[in-house]
Amino acid sequence: MSSQPWWRTAAIYQVYIRSFADGNGDGTGDIAGLRSRLPYLAALGVDAIWINPWYRSPLNDGGYDVADYRDIDPRFGTLDEATSLIADAERHGLRVILDLVPNHTSHRHRWFEEALAAPPGSPARARYHFRRGKGRQGTAPPTDWRSVFGGPAWTPLGDGDWYLHLFDPTQPDLNWANPEVRAEIEDVIRFWLARGATGFRVDVAHSLVKDPAYPDVGDEEEALLVAHDESNHPFWDRPEIHEIAREWRAILDGHGDHTMMVAEAWVASLARLVAYLRQGEYHQAFDFAFLETEWDAAAMREVIAASLAATATVGSVPTWVLSNHDVVRHATRYGLPGDVSAKAWLLDGDGTDYDPALGLRRARAATLLMLALPGSAYLYQGEELGLAEVYDLPAAVLDDPVWIRSGHTEKGRDGCRVPLPWTVAGPSFGFGDGGAWLPQPSGWGARSVEAQRGRPGSTLEMYRQALALRTAWLRDDVDLTWEDRDAEVVAFRRASGLRCLVNFGEAGHPIPPGKVVVASGPLDGDRLPPDTAVWVTEGQRR
Ligand code: GLC
Repeated sequence: MSSQPWWRTAAIYQVYIRSFADGNGDGTGDIAGLRSRLPYLAALGVDAIWINPWYRSPLNDGGYDVADYRDIDPRFGTLDEATSLIADAERHGLRVILDLVPNHTSHRHRWFEEALAAPPGSPARARYHFRRGKGRQGTAPPTDWRSVFGGPAWTPLGDGDWYLHLFDPTQPDLNWANPEVRAEIEDVIRFWLARGATGFRVDVAHSLVKDPAYPDVGDEEEALLVAHDESNHPFWDRPEIHEIAREWRAILDGHGDHTMMVAEAWVASLARLVAYLRQGEYHQAFDFAFLETEWDAAAMREVIAASLAATATVGSVPTWVLSNHDVVRHATRYGLPGDVSAKAWLLDGDGTDYDPALGLRRARAATLLMLALPGSAYLYQGEELGLAEVYDLPAAVLDDPVWIRSGHTEKGRDGCRVPLPWTVAGPSFGFGDGGAWLPQPSGWGARSVEAQRGRPGSTLEMYRQALALRTAWLRDDVDLTWEDRDAEVVAFRRASGLRCLVNFGEAGHPIPPGKVVVASGPLDGDRLPPDTAVWVTEGQRR
């Protein structure tokens, strides 16, 4: 038995439910599909799953526009099915983490509909941020704040009031100064804990509270800058957020030691990130700096060391992640030249400069690096198949509101959300009996679970092996000792005796004595080739 709370060393698998598995053949992933694939997830060797929003929603932002926090969208299933899924997952040894979306609701949420029907200044409008427009006729937005998805963060209603949406206009921001809002989200937390959820991934955990003075922020760049290192930005990372986190933590603690919550907080610095991990606040907060680090030994060493040191100051551990539903898949990022921005490249989308084989080689090595580190690791569905970003989706099928809101200057996040291939052939490669809501590349059968299962050296088998070894070797401690080797090789040893080496250079590097228990690619005798990682153990382990 480990002496660590489970989440401190957990591997958690992110299920983007809309694209995971389709049980009823309508082209959209659902709870039935996910239920049927629980044995796959259990065999993969993860400890828990995080399910992206499955609540009733118009799906304008893939479900991050919640119309009813206590019900399931009919496209995904029913509340009964959700409750059974959680119980089933537990029987498979998988805990279930749900997405909590407290910053905004859908414009189709009952509260927002009531607000629209009510006059300016009414209590119904006080649940959101309604403000009078500027200027004599109120025809200018109340502030200069910009939406993350592009365009102004305010939309006028025509009655003099404007409402705030830091994301899409269909995602009005809740007013966290209103006690009714706080009570409602607390109740939603209790609702899902009572149905067996272990905890929550908290969406946009660094916003919620807005400056009641609604000051302008100045230039547009500034308004969009999440990387703001002060405590008084009007809508990012304000100090009051921590008080809310403590209230939620108290509710979770009341439901047992196993409960947990992880913050999605894109904040300015590690120091600001670990503030979320203080005693009585979040258990985890994603370390996005690691995800953003380029393929470079010194940069990797630095970002890892910094995260270990910073989290230790609050008695916590890092939460690593390489891919999720918001970023370009890491198998593609690492296949682009270091000076090319993945986002900008997506827009051009002609494949120039992109080396998919190199990307996959490095992605596999990066995964072995991540899984050997102290702390928790989140995996995004499909990365265990080595899936790359689908960069050439036709504009006509793009669904992410970013594409439209940015005036077609950002392609958005659909390329990492394409439905998974389960089988070599068949309609939608086994995703379901019908089609897939986003078109899959024609070659995806070769990347499917069926094609990789049991095939030595496949990405899927590498993930399985590494996850099993992680459970056997890396459960009990959170220590890491760096080894001094070639500057181009990141190498460290864990207290259990497991060593990880990753070669970022261009020449082979000698593998130390011991047993190679997993490798991210073919080895060159006793040498570690470039863009490759190995785990080496000494002695025996149960
Ligand atoms: C988070 C989600 C993202 C969503 C946004 C607005 O960043 O991960 O997918 O669009 O919040 O809810």
